[in-house]
Amino acid sequence: MKVEIAMSSRINEVDFNRIPFGTHYSDHMFRCEFSNGKWKNSIIEPFGKIKLSPVSPVFHYGQAVFEGMKAYKDKNSEVFLFRPEENFKRINRSAIRLEMPTIPEKIFMNGLKKLIDIDRNWVPKYYGKSLYIRPFLIATNGVLSAKPSKEYMFMIISTPADSYYKYPLKVKIEEKYSRSASGGVGFTKAAGNYASSFYPTKLANEKGFDQILWTDSSTHTMIEESGTMNVFFLLKDKLITPKANDNILNGITCKSIITLAENENIDVEERDFSVSEVIRGLTNGELKEAFGCGTAAVINYFEVINYRNTNFMLPNIPDNKRLSLRLKKILLDVQHNLSNDPFGWRVHI
Ligand code: PLP
Ligand code: COI
Repeated sequence: MKVEIAMSSRINEVDFNRIPFGTHYSDHMFRCEFSNGKWKNSIIEPFGKIKLSPVSPVFHYGQAVFEGMKAYKDKNSEVFLFRPEENFKRINRSAIRLEMPTIPEKIFMNGLKKLIDIDRNWVPKYYGKSLYIRPFLIATNGVLSAKPSKEYMFMIISTPADSYYKYPLKVKIEEKYSRSASGGVGFTKAAGNYASSFYPTKLANEKGFDQILWTDSSTHTMIEESGTMNVFFLLKDKLITPKANDNILNGITCKSIITLAENENIDVEERDFSVSEVIRGLTNGELKEAFGCGTAAVINYFEVINYRNTNFMLPNIPDNKRLSLRLKKILLDVQHNLSNDPFGWRVHI
């Protein structure tokens, strides 16, 4: 791998006490190209513009997938990634579904680790803050006909991150628009999944909601996920999360929370969860908490769930009694090397 170090660092431009998501990018980026059936030209270079042909299928046909992961610092400024092999596997599941070449593990992991090693100063040393890492794969050269590209570029960039959503969140159960459909690409991190959610999310924002709570596209009766988060519901003393299927992005945070909650002897159910169960639980008081989780979002609880123009308030529980916040602390403690790592999730850089 070629390494070109930036002549000067932009790190002094960052106020690490206040970092709106995605406003600053670390000094370097990783890039690797695919052509003639081979990956080549791995390079770490100063963050900057890239030149692409106007016929790149990424522009016309949305042949693009990405990942989201984070690096954390511990008290001694040691840097750790969290479950990067899961992101590696997921980007390749996404790539296969979008008829793109898979990325070899060595290229993904070596590029990632070297980049974070070089830009380690960009990992904030604050509990709950992190360096958000964005690997992405785009189609860079083809002919204008609607066909998969012949050439691709895999890149990794990173941005210091604080919390992604302001919270508690107000969410709206969506019955008109859909994020994904059975047999589609909902289980992937295809760029187009996000583009198609912008308009319905804007409409929800205009009505005062932070995010949409997506339901299945055919009946709009089953809960799927929300914004860039998987969702959990505390119904009586059971923690329920919709079972991952091909409509839902199988979140690494969600998987981790299931494991951590079970480790705390909390009863977790991964199963289909209906809108009517949500509304019944909100009406009879059995739904104690609802929250979303994801890499960027971490864990955010919901204070309002809107259904057919009615706002249902979640119970007003003190923060120190909230399961969502207890799980958030357990998760952040693992990520920041403040607790044991019984499942081997941390990767030291
Ligand atoms: N669902 C969607 C649509 C997302 O964009 C994300 C964020 O990556 C998640 C769920 C949560 O996934 P993860 O925990 O792997 O970040
Ligand atoms: C993530 O949590 O990694 C996401 O994908 C959110 C992102 C779209 C900002």
